[in-house]
Amino acid sequence: MAIEILQALPLYKPCEAGLAERYHVHKMHDVKDRDGFLRDVGPRIRAIAGSKVDAALIEALPNLEIIASFGVGYDSVDIAAAKARGIPVTNTPNVLNDAVAEITIALMLALARRIPEADRFVREAKWLNGAFPLQRELNGKTLGIIGLGRIGKEIAMRAQAMRMRVVYHGRRRQTREPFQFYENLNDMARDSDWLLVITPGGKDTENLVSRSVLEALGPEGMFVNMARGSVVDQDALVEMLVNRTLGGAALDVFNNEPNVPAQLLELDNVVLSPHMGSGTTQTRQAMGDLLIGNLEAHFAGNPLLSAVV
Ligand code: 8YV
Repeated sequence: MAIEILQALPLYKPCEAGLAERYHVHKMHDVKDRDGFLRDVGPRIRAIAGSKVDAALIEALPNLEIIASFGVGYDSVDIAAAKARGIPVTNTPNVLNDAVAEITIALMLALARRIPEADRFVREAKWLNGAFPLQRELNGKTLGIIGLGRIGKEIAMRAQAMRMRVVYHGRRRQTREPFQFYENLNDMARDSDWLLVITPGGKDTENLVSRSVLEALGPEGMFVNMARGSVVDQDALVEMLVNRTLGGAALDVFNNEPNVPAQLLELDNVVLSPHMGSGTTQTRQAMGDLLIGNLEAHFAGNPLLSAVV
């Protein structure tokens, strides 16, 4: 009898195919009568593949053994509820570092040189009436990284290739890193030209980038969010971009995705991106392989490849 698992949301198609080859997969997002489904099938489910797992779902699955989430961030999994039941949770770290780091630099360049606007300038034949306004460079500027973790370090390396000075803020100083550490985020924001968030989401980092941090970054400052919308005070961010008390922003993540505040859509000092940090076929394949690898390890009784708890 095939092991029955629950897929919590749509996944990268080859990953779905890999799961279907190995397990009897029930797709939660296709289910109309969720309560009836959980009552009838719930007791047979031994694993969840994918994120978006709340306490109620965990509770509804009495024989759940493992949650294998898709993504490095696991803020959409109720870790406390899993822990309380002794259910391990895995994520997909490392395999997406390069993809996220690459697009971070791309979005910074896009904002600095206003590439989306320049593209429209050519398409709309505005060039025929005169040159595109002069923009700014990354080189010689200070990049303040909030969260010098696995991805943060890859971004730091690439920012150095852009001849930027890198400084960082985090829970603790990392003595092996050559970059200046700021214990106080406001101090770092004041001393940075660019401020980048690449921390985990969730309660611990909620509104870490407050209005006062954005004020410290100032009217020439550029803000970049590659983490989660929840890490920044989004209302303050939008307001300050509109009234130009903040220089600009490159945003890959938002509160309440895929909804984006309408005011942002009107602004020329903002580059918007649809939460696509890990969105390459190469990386999504590797994330899918790791998710499946974790399930296989679990059901074979081997150590998990990337357990969070
Ligand atoms: C998403 C991400 O998981 O890894 C993360 O934490 O934010 C992304 O890679 C991905 O978009 C899948 O939904």
